[in-house]
Amino acid sequence: LKINKSELEAIAVRPAQYPPDGPAEIAFAGRSNVGKSSLLNLLTGRKNLARVSGAPGKTRTINFYRINDRFRIVDLPGYGYAKVSKSVSEDWGQMMERYLGTREGLRRVIQLVDIRHAPTRQDLQMYEYLRHYGLDGVVVATKADKVSRNEQAKNLAVIRKELKLGPEDILLPVSALKRTGTEQLLDVIEKVLEE
Ligand code: GTP
Ligand code: MG
Repeated sequence: LKINKSELEAIAVRPAQYPPDGPAEIAFAGRSNVGKSSLLNLLTGRKNLARVSGAPGKTRTINFYRINDRFRIVDLPGYGYAKVSKSVSEDWGQMMERYLGTREGLRRVIQLVDIRHAPTRQDLQMYEYLRHYGLDGVVVATKADKVSRNEQAKNLAVIRKELKLGPEDILLPVSALKRTGTEQLLDVIEKVLEE
């Protein structure tokens, strides 16, 4: 897969704001600051398509990006940002449930975790949730440039074990900084689109 066209199609907090259901969608989930928006920019080769910030909680809406006039990548709001109030985090749950539970075109959710750490409790919950909906099976370990080669292998094994990934499940290290892992991930996306 090569991405040669990408554009922001819709920004939504409720279903009425979603673009029409139908085209295949692949969503990115993960905690705030894990690198969802950076990964989208890396895959599309566009530095500023999605807003990236050092301050967690940047993406608080569901952002739909139209790719190659063929499918969508959906940047989901991050979880685990401690500073959001109770009501904001409830809205988050409702927003996620309405999208993940009802979207016909949704083919897979790519779960992002930080390669430096074991998955958090919320990562585990999120992944269980994806399993429940049959949207699991592809995990990306972000910020691979922040650990040594040795640590990389060790941490990937921990992530595999904690998330209970099976041999058929995919776990890919990527680095938005070093621009590594994209080709493999684009191959995975192509396979999901062909399923
Ligand atoms: P929210 O929108 O808050 O949910 O965050 P997000 O998951 O979209 O994260 P974002 O892409 O905004 O990145 C958060 C921070 O991590 C930024 O400072 C990025 O520059 C940095 N970052 C993202 N990916 C990488 C990576 O692969 N390597 C390194 N070193 N930094 C990264
Ligand atoms: Mg973001």
